[in-house]
Amino acid sequence: MRKPLFPVLFVLAAACAASLGGKEELPVVQPEAPAEARSRFAALDDVRLLTNGLLQLGQSLREFVQKTKGQINDIFQKLNIFDHSFYQLSVIASEIKEEEEELKKTTVILKASNEEIKDLSVEISSKMNDILLERTQLQNKVDGLEKKLSSLTHGLMTREQVAEINSLRDVIQSQEQSITRLLAAVGEQSDQINQQRIKIKVLEEKLTAKAAAQETVERTPGIFNTEAPTLTPYLASSTTAMMDLPSDCSELFSRGERVSTVYAIQPNGSEPFMAFCDMSKGFGATVIQRRKDGLVNFDQTWDKYENGFGDLQGDFWLGLRKIHFLVTQGNSVLHIQLEDWKQGRRFINYRFYLDGAERNYTIHLKQLSGNLTDPMRNHTGMMFSTKDRDNDNHPDSNCAHNYTGGWWFNACGDTNLNGRYFYVRAKGRRRGIQWKQGRKASYSLKFTQISIYPVATPSISSSISASTETGTFP
Ligand SMILES: *[C@@H]1O[C@H](CO)[C@@H](O)[C@H](O)[C@H]1NC(C)=O
Ligand SMILES: *[C@@H]1O[C@H](CO)[C@@H](O)[C@H](O)[C@H]1NC(C)=O
Ligand SMILES: *[C@@H]1O[C@H](CO)[C@@H](O)[C@H](O)[C@H]1NC(C)=O
Ligand SMILES: *[C@@H]1O[C@H](CO)[C@@H](O)[C@H](O)[C@H]1NC(C)=O
Ligand SMILES: *[C@@H]1O[C@H](CO)[C@@H](O)[C@H](O)[C@H]1NC(C)=O
Repeated sequence: MRKPLFPVLFVLAAACAASLGGKEELPVVQPEAPAEARSRFAALDDVRLLTNGLLQLGQSLREFVQKTKGQINDIFQKLNIFDHSFYQLSVIASEIKEEEEELKKTTVILKASNEEIKDLSVEISSKMNDILLERTQLQNKVDGLEKKLSSLTHGLMTREQVAEINSLRDVIQSQEQSITRLLAAVGEQSDQINQQRIKIKVLEEKLTAKAAAQETVERTPGIFNTEAPTLTPYLASSTTAMMDLPSDCSELFSRGERVSTVYAIQPNGSEPFMAFCDMSKGFGATVIQRRKDGLVNFDQTWDKYENGFGDLQGDFWLGLRKIHFLVTQGNSVLHIQLEDWKQGRRFINYRFYLDGAERNYTIHLKQLSGNLTDPMRNHTGMMFSTKDRDNDNHPDSNCAHNYTGGWWFNACGDTNLNGRYFYVRAKGRRRGIQWKQGRKASYSLKFTQISIYPVATPSISSSISASTETGTFP
């Protein structure tokens, strides 16, 4: 592009210089001298041509300059990009170098460790050899000793001595057995004594109540005055039918008792016993189970679940026999209250019946109300199971053994309020206190309370209407 421009430039420059030389003659036009004028006109034409050429040249020069500028800009931009990538490359290169250095250092360290390990393994194998050697030596010694011993015993022990030793062993074994039997008997006796103590306490209370009644009638101090502080609230405030123990907590409530605590009750046909009455709900509910601090072991036998265990003010199971007597008195509601580890409280009410011992305390439930889901639906008709009495509808497992505690297990299921007490939110444990259906069943609850009360209790309607949407614990 450049080459063709130079000759043109020279030609134009020469023409320009020539035209500049005859400049002063240009404006003077003399028509009287045509030859001269012609030549002048010719010169004028030349000048025009030249001017045009110059203009064109200027134009193309401008275009050329602009084009070149653009190209130079392009080149600069490319150079910039190149510079930038070069910089990046150099940064990466330096990083790689650093890494390489580090790798080198690590390699050195590894090499050193490798050497150490080699030394150690050599040492260990030599030690192992020593030990093996010692072992064989010891084995030989033991063998020798055994031989010597057997020869000695053969030589020393007579047949009578051997017989004596055997008979002594038998005596010790039989003694051990009788000690175990004695221990079991002592346990039974202490249970019976406990029962007797409850009976005596109930009788005492009856007696003091009678004395108190006489006192209020006769207004004379009686010999039972000193025992007045031991009166339960129920005995202190009732005036009529004092000889009859209330059949349950609901009757206590209707007699005016409002304190939630332990009372003596006697359901129809049952022995008297102590029970915790929850009076906080506007009616009297007999509590049959509570878990609140984990201080009582619920992994108990059939016998314990039948007769009850635990601390009536703390964690306890009232006992299947007593629960059966309570529900045979009339239509009962089973009220279950649960609390999770975030103070979330929910409840569920069932119509409830419990068969007797002859049917292994088969449970009958029908949901009434509550804001808790109902995983017990499938448990209706299930017999009670404990680790020593498997009625759980599972062909090859013992649910009470796997999950601990006694319950109306149905092929195990996800519900067991008598499982092990865990002190923290225990996710993923299958043996806790559980109430849920579905796969995410492994959440152990913080608090449970199960109570029963008669359907006829007037406040039930309000408690039923309190139910809203149902839900589960996390
Ligand atoms: C107590 O039970 C007996 C027999 O089961 C029955 O005849 C009686 O009517 C019951 N009494 C009350 C007060 O429920
Ligand atoms: C369930 O109902 C009880 C009683 O009405 C209420 O105290 C409790 O907050 C409810 N729980 C939830 C999670 O709604
Ligand atoms: C009650 O349980 C025992 C022991 O598991 C069992 O042998 C018996 O058949 C059960 N009774 C009934 C009525 O199913
Ligand atoms: C109840 O049991 C049946 C069969 O035994 C089962 O198909 C169903 O899923 C169970 N329902 C619940 C809520 O566990
Ligand atoms: C109960 O435990 C036994 C033995 O660990 C196991 O084989 C069985 O599958 C378990 N059953 C259930 C229902 O978890």
